[in-house]
Amino acid sequence: MTKPYAEVIGDPIAHSKSPLIHGFWLDALGIDAEYRATHVTPDALPAYIESRRNDPAWRGCNVTVPHKVAALDLVEDPGDVRGSIGAVNTIVRAENGALTGTNTDAAGFYAPIADLDLAGKPVTVIGAGGAARAILFALARMDVGPVTLMNRNVLKGAALLSSFGLKGQALPLQPAAPPSALVVNATSLGMTGQPPLALDLTALPDDAVVYDIVYAPLETDLLAAARARNLDTVDGLEMLVGQAAVAFELFFGAAPPRDRDDELRDRLTA
Ligand code: ATR
Repeated sequence: MTKPYAEVIGDPIAHSKSPLIHGFWLDALGIDAEYRATHVTPDALPAYIESRRNDPAWRGCNVTVPHKVAALDLVEDPGDVRGSIGAVNTIVRAENGALTGTNTDAAGFYAPIADLDLAGKPVTVIGAGGAARAILFALARMDVGPVTLMNRNVLKGAALLSSFGLKGQALPLQPAAPPSALVVNATSLGMTGQPPLALDLTALPDDAVVYDIVYAPLETDLLAAARARNLDTVDGLEMLVGQAAVAFELFFGAAPPRDRDDELRDRLTA
């Protein structure tokens, strides 16, 4: 029998850090399995899923841009993901070939801020795309107070707030963040090759946390502005590793060695 394997699929896919993360954990735990990156175009997605369904060595895959919504219709069981986050980032194959879709982005986002008590507190989120959906899902479960959702496309922002039952307001991108306990950049602004996210953080209280999902580069203008104000920060690698950890356990049935996160971060930033 061939070695068990899982993979990440997307278009493009060469930049993905998932093989490094899962490979590090497989090595650390001595699991004889592989995790690879596979380029799958949108046209090829249905045929890809059907071929893998019949491969008993395939444990499943992580799904990245642009397949997260299309994948919903290609699995038997989208769990509660269809009605909630509306996007799949992980597909898991059962022994009988049945495919379950799930989304580990919300758990990955939540893990680094699990100790924060945000109940009833104002939060600012920038972005209304797929990543923002998972983040708003997690924030709604944390029972946050009013959400200021800034997005280039304001209508998209307003629709998201109401679909997650969150109180607050949708605005176009603003030059300054309103007073908030947490500010999250859920856009690609700040990523290498994209414009920076320039946001004045003067109005934030001293115990506010600033969270940027961008991980390339790790030090974004937003996080630099937060550090200049001595605010606590969470960078995009924490969410990336957090979502991968949940998927790893689903694929390989073992919890990853999170006590080696520092070593993993060194590899990811080398
Ligand atoms: P992801 O799955 O990473 O969230 P996405 O669904 O394409 O990707 O969402 C990208 C987000 O970044 C959106 O909020 C998008 O704003 P719009 O909804 O207005 O398109 C935001 N974004 C991307 N590039 C941007 C730019 N140059 N200026 C402002 N917002 C941008």
